[in-house]
Amino acid sequence: MRQFLLPSFVSLLLLLETFCYTDGDETDKQALLGFKSQVSVDKRALLSSWNQSFPLCNWTGVTCGRKHKRVTRLDLGGLRLGGVISPSIGNLSFLISLNLSDNSFGGTIPQEVGNLFRLKYLFMSFNFLRGGVPISLFNCVPSGVGSLTKLRTLDLGKNNLEGKLPASLGNLTLLMQVSVTNNNMEGEVPDDIARLAQMVAIDLSLNNFSGFFPPSIYNWSSIEFLNIFGNGFSGSLRNDFGNLLPKLREVYMGTNYLTGAIPATLPNISNLQGLRMEYNNLRGSISPSFGKVEKLQILALQSNGFGSYSFGDLDFIGALNNCTKLQRLYAGQNRLGGDLPTSVTNLSTKLITLDLGTNLISGTIPRDIGNLISLQTLWLQENLLTGPLPTSLGRVSELGELIVFSNRMLGEIPSSIGNLTQLQRLLLYNNSFQGIIPPSLGNCRYLGQLLIGSNKLNGSIPNEIMKIQPLVRLNMSGNSLIGTLSEDIGKLQNLVTLSLGNNKLSGHLPQALGKYIKGLVGVKKVDFSNNNFSGSIPEYFSNFSSLEYLNLSANNLEGRVPEEGKFQNSTIVSVFGNKNLCGGIEELKLKPCLEQVPVVDTKHSSHLKKVAVGLSKKQQSNNQTPSTLGAFHENMSYGDLRNAKNGFSSSNIVGSGSFGTVFKAFLPTENKVVAVKVLNLQRRGAMKSFMSECESLKNIRHRNLVKLLTSCAGIDFQGNEFRALIYDFMSNGTLDMWLHPEEVEKICSPLRALTLLEGLTLP
Ligand SMILES: *[C@@H]1O[C@H](CO)[C@@H](O)[C@H](O)[C@H]1NC(C)=O
Ligand SMILES: *[C@@H]1O[C@H](CO)[C@@H](O)[C@H](O)[C@H]1NC(C)=O
Ligand SMILES: *[C@@H]1O[C@H](CO)[C@@H](O)[C@H](O)[C@H]1NC(C)=O
Ligand SMILES: *[C@@H]1O[C@H](CO)[C@@H](O)[C@H](O)[C@H]1NC(C)=O
Ligand SMILES: *[C@@H]1O[C@H](CO)[C@@H](O)[C@H](O)[C@H]1NC(C)=O
Ligand SMILES: *[C@@H]1O[C@H](CO)[C@@H](O)[C@H](O)[C@H]1NC(C)=O
Ligand SMILES: *[C@@H]1O[C@H](CO)[C@@H](O)[C@H](O)[C@H]1NC(C)=O
Ligand SMILES: *[C@@H]1O[C@H](CO)[C@@H](O)[C@H](O)[C@H]1NC(C)=O
Ligand SMILES: *[C@@H]1O[C@H](CO)[C@@H](O)[C@H](O)[C@H]1NC(C)=O
Ligand SMILES: *[C@@H]1O[C@H](CO)[C@@H](O)[C@H](O)[C@H]1NC(C)=O
Ligand SMILES: *[C@@H]1O[C@H](CO)[C@@H](O)[C@H](O)[C@H]1NC(C)=O
Ligand SMILES: *[C@@H]1O[C@H](CO)[C@@H](O)[C@H](O)[C@H]1NC(C)=O
Repeated sequence: MRQFLLPSFVSLLLLLETFCYTDGDETDKQALLGFKSQVSVDKRALLSSWNQSFPLCNWTGVTCGRKHKRVTRLDLGGLRLGGVISPSIGNLSFLISLNLSDNSFGGTIPQEVGNLFRLKYLFMSFNFLRGGVPISLFNCVPSGVGSLTKLRTLDLGKNNLEGKLPASLGNLTLLMQVSVTNNNMEGEVPDDIARLAQMVAIDLSLNNFSGFFPPSIYNWSSIEFLNIFGNGFSGSLRNDFGNLLPKLREVYMGTNYLTGAIPATLPNISNLQGLRMEYNNLRGSISPSFGKVEKLQILALQSNGFGSYSFGDLDFIGALNNCTKLQRLYAGQNRLGGDLPTSVTNLSTKLITLDLGTNLISGTIPRDIGNLISLQTLWLQENLLTGPLPTSLGRVSELGELIVFSNRMLGEIPSSIGNLTQLQRLLLYNNSFQGIIPPSLGNCRYLGQLLIGSNKLNGSIPNEIMKIQPLVRLNMSGNSLIGTLSEDIGKLQNLVTLSLGNNKLSGHLPQALGKYIKGLVGVKKVDFSNNNFSGSIPEYFSNFSSLEYLNLSANNLEGRVPEEGKFQNSTIVSVFGNKNLCGGIEELKLKPCLEQVPVVDTKHSSHLKKVAVGLSKKQQSNNQTPSTLGAFHENMSYGDLRNAKNGFSSSNIVGSGSFGTVFKAFLPTENKVVAVKVLNLQRRGAMKSFMSECESLKNIRHRNLVKLLTSCAGIDFQGNEFRALIYDFMSNGTLDMWLHPEEVEKICSPLRALTLLEGLTLP
C-alpha cells in the first residue's frame, strides 16, 4: 500500500507543478506572498500554507479558475487577520471575488484594488480601514481595463472611512449592492449614482451624509432594500415615491431630518415588509391605506409629528387589522389624539411590539388587549388613558415590558400580572392605581425594573418582591404603603435604585442590607425619606461604594449619624427632619452626640444621696445664652449634654436599676438642671419601643412624674448604641417618681413593655 501511495502522491505533485507553473501563476503567488508579508496578526497561523513548497491553488482561502489555474477568489473573511492590505493584491488580475470582511485590517484601501478589473464582489466590511474610498476604484479608462467596471457588490461597511461618496461610483453601472454603513462618510450623495440602474440594495446608514433625500434614488426602479438610517438627510419625499420604487421590500429612513408627509403612494408598494421612518420631522396623518400592505411586518413611525391631537388620528389601527403579518408597530412620540380604539385588540396576533406612548391618547385600554398574545413590549406611557389595567394581560405570556406610566389609570394592579414570568420592566408610576401591590409579582422572576411610585397604593410591601433577584430599580415612592421594610430587601443584590420615599413605612431600617453588603455595592440611589422610619441609621451605608444619593430625611431616625465613608459627603447624604439625630459631619448641622455614660450597678447607687451635686459651677461659666424651654424641647441640645459629660460620673447618679441609670446634669444652654436616664440597652425590648415611649411620655403630666423633655440617641466610644431620656429635674417630685415606678407603668399602659422607670431601688 505504502509503496504504491507514495509514488502516486509525488507524481501528483509533479503534475500540479507542471500544470500550474506558468508566469501568471507566479504573478499570483508573488502577489499573495506580498499580501501575506503585510499581515502582522495571524494567531492561528492560517496563512502558513501560503509557502513556495505548497501548491498555490491549495493555499488557505484561495480558489483558482478551473482551466487557467489563476486565483479567482480570495476568501479570508472572519480569519482574525490583522495588518494592512498590501497594494500587491492589485496584481491578482483574475480575481472575481475578494472577501476580507471581519478581520482587523487597518490603514487605507490601496488604490491598486482598482486594477482588479474582473472583480465582481468586494467585501471589506468590519475592519479598521480609514481614509477615503479611492476614486481609482471607480474611474474607468476607455479600454475598460484598470477599473472595477464589472463590480456588482461593494461592501465597505463598518470601517472608519471618511470623505464623500465618489461621484465616479456612478461609472460602475452593474452595481447591484452597495454598503458603506457605519463609517464616517459625509457630504451629499452625488447625483451621478442615478446611473446605477441595476441597484437592488443600498445601505448608507450610520454615516454623516447630508443634503436632501438623494433624488438619484428615484431612478432605481429595481431597488428592494433602501437604508439611509442615521444620517443628516433633509427635505421631503416625492409623492410618487411608491410608484417610482415599486419593488421596495425594506425602507429604513429613521433618524434623519426628513420633513413633509408620508407619500400617499407608499402604501401602494405591495411587497413592503418593513418601513421605518422614526425620529424625523414628518407630519400629517398615518394613512389607513397601510392596511393594504399585506406583507407589512414592521411599521416604525415614532418620534415624528404625525396626527393632530384629535379623533381620527388612530383610524389607521383598525385598518392595520388586515396586516396579519404585522409584528412591530411603533407610533409613540407623535401627536396622536382620540380614544384608543377597541380594534387595537384585533391587530395581528403576531404583534410583538405596540408603541403608542407619549401621545394624547384618551379612553381606556380595551379589556381584550390580552388577545395580542405575542406581545413582548407594550408602551402606552404618557397619554391620557384611564380605567383599569385589563386582567387579560395575564394571558400575554411573553410580555417583557409593560409601560403605562404617566396616565390616569385607576383600579388595582391586577394580580394576573404575576402570570407574566418574562416581565422585565413594569412601569406603572404616576397614575392613580389603588389597592395593594399584588404579591403575585414575586413570580415575575426576571423583573429588573419595578416602578410603581406616585400612585395610591396601600398595604405593605409584599415580601414576595424580595425574591426577585434581578431587580435593579425598585421605586414605590409616593404611595400610602405601611408596615415595616423586610430585612429580605438585602437579598436584592442587583439593586441600583431603591426609592421608598413618601409613604407611611415604619420600623427600623433593615440591618440585613449590611449583611449582604457585598451584593449591594452597586446601589447608587436610596430614598427612604418622608416615612416614619425609626431607630438608628445603619452604618453599612457608609460602605456602599457606588452610593450617590441617600435620602433619609423626614423620618423619626435617631442616634448618631455616621461620619465615615459616604457620610463624609453632605451632597450624597440627606438626613434633615429627623428630630433625634446627632453627630455626623459638620455640614449636616446636627447636635453633637452625648457620649456613653457608664451604667452603674445598684451597689453604687448609694451615691444617690449626693443628688444635689451639680455641674453648675464649671458649666455656668460658659455663659451661654439660655433659650426657652420650648426650643429646648423641640431641639434637644445634645451638645450641652456632652459638654456636661464630666458630670456623668457615679457621683451624679440619682438612681439605677435594671433599666439603666439616672444621672443629674446641668444644661448650660437651658441654664437648668435635668435628670438624664440612660437606658440599659441589653434589656430585651428596650430599644424596640424606645421612640414610641418617648413620644407618649413627652406630654404626660402626672403629679408624680416630671415631664420628659426629650431623648438622646447615639453611639458611644465603644460603638455601642446609647439611649437616654432627659427630664425636668425636680428634687422633690423627681425623687417621688423614681420611688414609685409602678405609677409610671400605669400611665404608660399599654406601653408596658419597656416600663421605663421600673426596678429603681433606693439603697
Ligand atoms: C507549507 O504549507 C504546508 C501546508 O500547510 C505545510 O505542511 C508546510 O510545512 C509548509 N512549508 C513551510 C516551509 O512552511
Ligand atoms: C490540493 O487540492 C486539490 C483539490 O482540492 C487536492 O486534490 C490535492 O490533493 C491538494 N494538494 C495538496 C498538496 O494538498
Ligand atoms: C465574507 O466573509 C464574511 C466573514 O467571514 C462572511 O460572513 C461572508 O459570508 C463572506 N462573504 C461571502 C460572499 O462569502
Ligand atoms: C505587480 O506585478 C508587477 C509585475 O510582476 C510588479 O512589477 C509589481 O511590483 C507588482 N506590484 C506590487 C504592488 O506588488
Ligand atoms: C467616471 O465617473 C466620473 C464621475 O461621475 C466621470 O467624471 C468620469 O468621466 C467617468 N469615467 C468613465 C470612463 O465613465
Ligand atoms: C433619472 O430619472 C429622471 C426622471 O425621473 C431622468 O430624467 C434622468 O435622466 C434619470 N437619470 C439617469 C441617470 O438615469
Ligand atoms: C456631520 O456633518 C455636519 C455637516 O453636515 C457637521 O456639522 C457635523 O459636525 C458632522 N458630524 C460628525 C459627527 O462628523
Ligand atoms: C395605488 O395603486 C392603485 C392600483 O394600482 C391605484 O389605483 C392608486 O391610484 C394608487 N394610489 C396612489 C396614491 O397612487
Ligand atoms: C381589510 O380587509 C377587508 C376584507 O378583505 C377589506 O374589505 C378592507 O377594505 C380592508 N381594509 C383595508 C384598509 O385595506
Ligand atoms: C396565566 O397564564 C396561563 C397560561 O399562560 C393562562 O392559562 C391563564 O389564563 C393566565 N391567567 C390569567 C389570570 O391571565
Ligand atoms: C460628593 O459627592 C458628589 C456627588 O457624588 C461628588 O460630585 C463630589 O465630588 C463629592 N465630594 C467629595 C468631597 O467627595
Ligand atoms: C418641688 O420643687 C419645685 C422646684 O424644684 C417647687 O416649685 C415645688 O414647689 C416643690 N414642690 C413641693 C411639693 O415641694
